[in-house]
Amino acid sequence: MKVIAVYSTKGGVGKTTAAVNLAWEASRDFRVLLWDLDPQGAATYLLNVKPKVKGGVEALVAKKASLGSAIRRTTFARLDVLPADASYSALDLVLDHAKNSTGRVRAALDTVRSDYDVVLLDCPPGSSLVAENAVSAADLVVLPIVPSPLSLRSVDQVHEFVASSEGKPPLLAFLSMVDRRKALHRDAVISLPRAVAGMTNIVVPGTVLIEKMGIERRPIGVYAPNTAAAHAFAELWVRIQSTAKARQRKPKN
Ligand SMILES: Nc1ncnc2c1ncn2[C@@H]1O[C@H](COP(=O)(O)OP(=O)(O)O)[C@@H](O)[C@H]1O
Ligand SMILES: [Mg+2]
Repeated sequence: MKVIAVYSTKGGVGKTTAAVNLAWEASRDFRVLLWDLDPQGAATYLLNVKPKVKGGVEALVAKKASLGSAIRRTTFARLDVLPADASYSALDLVLDHAKNSTGRVRAALDTVRSDYDVVLLDCPPGSSLVAENAVSAADLVVLPIVPSPLSLRSVDQVHEFVASSEGKPPLLAFLSMVDRRKALHRDAVISLPRAVAGMTNIVVPGTVLIEKMGIERRPIGVYAPNTAAAHAFAELWVRIQSTAKARQRKPKN
C-alpha cells in the first residue's frame, strides 16, 4: 500500500481538487482509498459521499471504531472514501492528547493495509498535528503551487516541514491554477521547475472546467476527459508512480 499526502501549508491552492482527481486516476488500475482529513469535507462533497463518521474521528484514531466501518463506496469501482465530518475540526486536539501523537493516521491505516493499493490523504492547510500525521504516514507528498508570491513562500515552509518529519518522504510539486494570460504565471512555468526541488513541469491550468467539479461532483476525467486539465492530472499520476518506484529501489538510510 502506497500512501500519498496532498499537502500545502496554504489553503485554496488546489489540494482537494488534486486529491480527488488523482484518486480517480489511480482507481483505474488500483484499489484506492481517499481519506478526507479536512473538516470542510470538500473531497467528501466532490465525490458525492455523505459526510458522516459514526462516533466521530476520535473513535477512529483511538482505534475504538474500525476504519473499515467508516469507509464509504463511491459510484466509481475501486474508489472508496473515508469522509470527513464536523468532528474533524477537533482532530488536532484529539491527537494532541493521544499517545504517539504523530503516528495515529499511519496506525489507523495499518488496519486497512491489505484492502487498498493506494491511499490519498487530502490534508487541511497549515502545519498542524493532522498535517504532521499525514506527512509521517506518507510515502510521497504532492504539493500544488499557485504561481503567486504568497504561495511561493509556502513552498519553503512545506520543504522544511517535510524535511523535519519522521519519514522525510520525497516531495513532488506541480503548478496549479495557471493562467497563461498573466506574465507572472508564464514566468513561473519556465523558472520554477528549475528553482524548486521536486518540481515537475506539470501544469494544471486555471479553468472553469475544474470549478465545475463542485456542480458535477465527479472527477474532471469523467465529464471532460479530453481536456488539458484532465490530462495534467493523468500525467501527474504517472509521475507519482515513477517517483514512488524509484524511491523503492533506493535503500532507506
Ligand atoms: N485549476 C483550477 N482552475 C480553476 N479553479 C480551480 C482549480 N483548482 C482548484 N480550483 C478551485 O479553487 C478552489 C480551491 O480549490 P481546492 O482544491 O479546494 O483547494 P485547497 O484544497 O488547496 O483548499 C475551489 O473552488 C476549486 O474549485
Ligand atoms: Mg482542501
